[in-house]
Amino acid sequence: MLDIRIRDGAICEIGELLRPEDQEEVIDARNAYVAPGFIDMHVHLREPGNPEKETIATGCAAAVAGGFTALAAMPNTHPALDTPEMVRWVKESAERAGLARVYPIAAITHGREGKEPVDFAALSRAGAVAFSDDGNTIESAIVQTSAALRARESGRVFITHCENAAIKERDEFDPAAESSAVARDIAIARATSLPWHIAHVSTRDAVDAIAEAKQLRITCTAEATPHHLVFTRDDAAQFSAGTKVHPPLRSAVDVDALRHAVRNGTIDAFASDHAPHADGTSPGFSGLEVAIGAYALALPDLPVRRYVELLSCNPARILGVPGGTLTVGSPADVTIFADRDWVVDPADFHSKGKRTPFSGKSLPRRAITTIVAGSVVMENRRVSARSAR
Ligand code: DOR
Repeated sequence: MLDIRIRDGAICEIGELLRPEDQEEVIDARNAYVAPGFIDMHVHLREPGNPEKETIATGCAAAVAGGFTALAAMPNTHPALDTPEMVRWVKESAERAGLARVYPIAAITHGREGKEPVDFAALSRAGAVAFSDDGNTIESAIVQTSAALRARESGRVFITHCENAAIKERDEFDPAAESSAVARDIAIARATSLPWHIAHVSTRDAVDAIAEAKQLRITCTAEATPHHLVFTRDDAAQFSAGTKVHPPLRSAVDVDALRHAVRNGTIDAFASDHAPHADGTSPGFSGLEVAIGAYALALPDLPVRRYVELLSCNPARILGVPGGTLTVGSPADVTIFADRDWVVDPADFHSKGKRTPFSGKSLPRRAITTIVAGSVVMENRRVSARSAR
């Protein structure tokens, strides 16, 4: 068993039986796992535009309560995150909240309208870590390709929500809406050599396309959500809460294929697609506070080392942000979690979004302590800002 010493926001020593020095706070992590801080790379904070659904502060509180030290924020706000000023504003607001680190993802096209590519260099300089029109699949392959070519210099990844609108309009649940859009984006990734990340993969056919892309050494990564890893469309009939989500819940064959893809490395990251809403009908679930338990429920046999890779090391690598390591000198972002059963009660959520298909479910794992830049920001679900300590 090893001890970790943290000083001035960084990890300064790792060793056996470190002796506490004067004034040092000691956190007892026996019977728990100590991991590099978890990063949720797909989160919808609702500011600017819809603070009644979530604010940057409540979203960050939900993140640290759920064991996340950092999150990447999607740009489907109102207005969309498509200017350097807005990217800076999101970062500053998160800094003021003093909880999780927030990495803004900027839009690929102005207003997420699928027409005019944004100024990738300026947005990247302002702090955008990736680009996405999330929620909207860019319909025109020409726009998508020319945007990818222009974005190359920024070195930033494109994250795409893959649902072909025309197919989806004909049949909301047709898996070809996803697999056809994934195939197209993989072809564009190959043609442009831009690093590409496929958001919330939900179908067997999309998994197969991504596995094939990896074999061809196309720079393509992918994520899976808690709800797509646990529930089928048939399960959804039993939920009391609304069940609408994009992409939709799928068949048992798809869920099995997705779990298998996590085990064999086709899926690189877990990401919650935290999508808080104030009403009962808009698509999306509140995910941050159930995610780490839900992944363990879906994949009880997944080795813990691989689990941490999917939640920390790989998201850090894909986004090109610090994290994913506990080596001496690295920022002291730490998640302590344990295999303890608990029952989900959305009334306890720090998020304003209370809708989740996991309501009332028992989950086998939870976060105990979240540490950001050396400060304890969550202990047993009690959240306190860095500046408040
Ligand atoms: O269900 C969803 N809700 N899927 C998305 O891609 C967007 C999200 C939202 O922002 O509410």
